[in-house]
Amino acid sequence: MFKRQTTQVIAHRGSKGTRPENTLLAFQAALDAGADGIETDVQLSRDGQMVIMHDEKVDRTTNGSGLIKDLTLAQLKQLDAGSHFGREFAGTKMPTLDEVIQLLIADHFSGVFNLELKTNKIPYPGIEQQLATYFTQQPVPFRLVFSSFRAQSLVTLRKLYPQAEYAKLFKTAGRQAKQMERHQQVAGLHPDIRWVKAHRFWLPHMQLRPWTVNSPADMAYCFRRHFAGIITDYPARAVALREKIQG
Ligand code: G3P
Ligand code: MG
Repeated sequence: MFKRQTTQVIAHRGSKGTRPENTLLAFQAALDAGADGIETDVQLSRDGQMVIMHDEKVDRTTNGSGLIKDLTLAQLKQLDAGSHFGREFAGTKMPTLDEVIQLLIADHFSGVFNLELKTNKIPYPGIEQQLATYFTQQPVPFRLVFSSFRAQSLVTLRKLYPQAEYAKLFKTAGRQAKQMERHQQVAGLHPDIRWVKAHRFWLPHMQLRPWTVNSPADMAYCFRRHFAGIITDYPARAVALREKIQG
């Protein structure tokens, strides 16, 4: 009999709900929770290193201040990226992209690695070429899905590295998402769950992976519809609820 797809649980910034976001601790927790995927955010330091952090500024999640693009990797590595979440995480460092990739390889991860290019506010010229070069030199044994709120980043990277999958992030712009899909620029859509529910949005032939799906009600909404994936701060809870709904 035809079996509907199992919804993949993708850990947002690692296990953001239980560990300091976008740190190796958070990614390890996501792996331990049995997440099928990991979502994270890449930006460039002043000396052009690919580093993992969500905000363009280090202020919210570290004891430093200023823009990532104005700080060197050595300066970023001085910062404490754990204390904001809890005293017991003091001294946790912000990782580079390569450190995350090496952790996943060492853990024999074989799921979905969703790397968001944080190019919508600061375009980080050249980051697409850098990613293509990196992943050409460092083949990975898992699925790579690049996403961004900035469509042009995806179009540029896809030309350089067509073997990956691409997904457009959006908050409300359903028309733009449909347009990209029509022109076959992306296979995946990553919309805000609030918008998905409000508009009962669904393109069944697309890889729909809403964010940030944290409440049991939102998780159940996506699991009942067998969406391709959910992006959640609580991967362990999501895996348990999926078991109840999808078996
Ligand atoms: O990729 C899903 C989600 O991470 C997009 O929003 O702001 O958390 O990066 P944000
Ligand atoms: Mg993100």
